[in-house]
Amino acid sequence: MTPSATVLSRAETAPDSGVNPAAAERMHLVVTGHVDHGKSTILGRLLADTGSLPEGKLDAVRMTCERNAKPFEFAFLLDALKDEQAQGITIDSARVFFKTPRRHYVILDAPGHIEFLKNMITGASRAEAALLVIDAQEGVRENSRRHGFMLSMLGIGQIAVLVNKMDLVEYSQTVFDRIVAEYGQFLSRFGATPVWFIPVSGVTGENLAAPAPNLSWYRGPTVLDALEGFENRQPLTSTAFRMPVQGVYKFTQHNDTRRIVAGTVESGRIAAGDEVIFYPSGKKSRVERIEGFNRPPATAAAAEEAIGFTLTDQIYVGRGEIAAKTGQPKPHVTTRMKVSVFWLGKSPLVMRKEYLLKLGTGRVPFRLEQIHRVIDASELSISEARATQVQRHEVAECTLALGKPLAFDTADQCPSTGRFVIVDNFEISGGGIVREALPDKQAWVREKVLNRNYKWEPGGVSAERRAERYSQKPVLLVITGDKDADRKRLARELEVRLFDDGRHVYFLGIGNVLYGVDADIERTGVNRLEHLRRLGEVANILLDAGLIVIATAEGLTQEDIDVIRTSGGSDRVVAVWLGDRTTTDLSCDLLLTQQDAETDGVTQLKSLLHDCGAIFKPW
Ligand code: GTP
Ligand code: MG
Repeated sequence: MTPSATVLSRAETAPDSGVNPAAAERMHLVVTGHVDHGKSTILGRLLADTGSLPEGKLDAVRMTCERNAKPFEFAFLLDALKDEQAQGITIDSARVFFKTPRRHYVILDAPGHIEFLKNMITGASRAEAALLVIDAQEGVRENSRRHGFMLSMLGIGQIAVLVNKMDLVEYSQTVFDRIVAEYGQFLSRFGATPVWFIPVSGVTGENLAAPAPNLSWYRGPTVLDALEGFENRQPLTSTAFRMPVQGVYKFTQHNDTRRIVAGTVESGRIAAGDEVIFYPSGKKSRVERIEGFNRPPATAAAAEEAIGFTLTDQIYVGRGEIAAKTGQPKPHVTTRMKVSVFWLGKSPLVMRKEYLLKLGTGRVPFRLEQIHRVIDASELSISEARATQVQRHEVAECTLALGKPLAFDTADQCPSTGRFVIVDNFEISGGGIVREALPDKQAWVREKVLNRNYKWEPGGVSAERRAERYSQKPVLLVITGDKDADRKRLARELEVRLFDDGRHVYFLGIGNVLYGVDADIERTGVNRLEHLRRLGEVANILLDAGLIVIATAEGLTQEDIDVIRTSGGSDRVVAVWLGDRTTTDLSCDLLLTQQDAETDGVTQLKSLLHDCGAIFKPW
């Protein structure tokens, strides 16, 4: 017998993990249910009964139990397999692998909510179906309900409910029927219908791989038959291409300036020669070559493969962007989204606090903008009355306001880039799915920027080479403040000082833009944001040329600076307020009083430029 049951790390579940992907279908399952209802026992027993255990494993575990005078448990099999594999690699939960004539199964035994959510959302398991275990003797418990709700929220419609430990209730049909009625009614309240309810016993193996004489009143399939009857969802390879960028790596060979864009293909396929667009930036290029890890270069790759590719143009992209393909539906890019959140944090999810959202490889800070309604996932009681917080185990529909634009999909379009986890205080405290992308104030600018970046013609010299040559990184320093503050004098003085230091710097007088590039639009209030957008565009070109740019403008608000950031590049614009206190809603990077400006204003600005990485040599 070939050993086929193994606990796998993520890398090993990739299609080249010894299984020929062409030879068999694969299905990812998740096993959930209330604590102690028998998840691990059922899995262990399924492995044993389908001949999926490594040879001698069962006997070895039995003997260990005997030696320790401990009754044998099928659940120990999972622990044993886990231990064996865990040496040297960290695995957070047991992933079990077994095969039948029809296909290969990758099963995740998720011991708790956090593990379950984490695995569902970070993509370690892409469950397409679920086994939900309910103890016949204990009946439906709160986690039976919560997990049912979460499965439905995450779009896992294929559920087999296993009513376990039937041996403890004398195989009673009445007990079974009661659970079917109660739990079926619960699921139906949010529109979920399990495909099967199956009475089983994990300990005796009844109705797992073979029918049980004790349960002769039951006419449905065994668990194995039910699994075999589940349909694989639409293959991920036939949907739009998505690859969250994990990192961009340099070739180490001499003089090789190429970069490898690395990540895991979440859906779709990609081939050499394909045009790819990265979001949120909208930058585009063409795939030159696809590199696999520890295998020869390939000409194409598909969903679930960890790959890297080189590009034909010298564009700068970074971790957190999502690569998509020209001609396919684009991901959304915005700072507002409507979501369903499942909250698990010890302290409630509250308004006004800053949290971290992780989606794909992207990470952005966010705050709750609004809580629309809150649902208790176990009782299904709904509160729509102006909720201001979400308690542990509650599900809420909310609007999130992100600290910067993020690329994502809605969960119904592309689940893997439409799910997220929420980090509070360095701990995963919740997760959820994106229901809707909402417009924000910058949408009109962003649309233009996406188009501009799409059409952008890169030169032959990369930004990196310029930075090396000039010993600086391009930044736009905007000095704003009240009417009477002498911004221009300070800006010019800084320009001269930086120039004398050997920097490549340019003072961009706002009038130069206003009467030139903006000559076609009037200088009235309604055009204010358009003027700023154009200022950002002009700065963007100067920044692309590698310069440090200094501009001044009176009384900028947060929205004003956001427009400049959207067009000039969000991480390349620094805002300084000159004056004793800000008189708009701007949150600036430096507040410089008039008095400080006169004594050591230039030094303070230089140190700000140093802190943001624009100048890095001692001055
Ligand atoms: P957690 O991982 O802790 O949530 O538990 P679990 O759901 O994995 O349960 P596990 O498989 O560890 O089983 C819990 C206990 O129930 C063990 O002592 C099992 O032997 C027992 N058990 C599981 N299935 C059956 C069954 O069908 N019949 C009987 N009599 N006992 C069972
Ligand atoms: Mg368990």
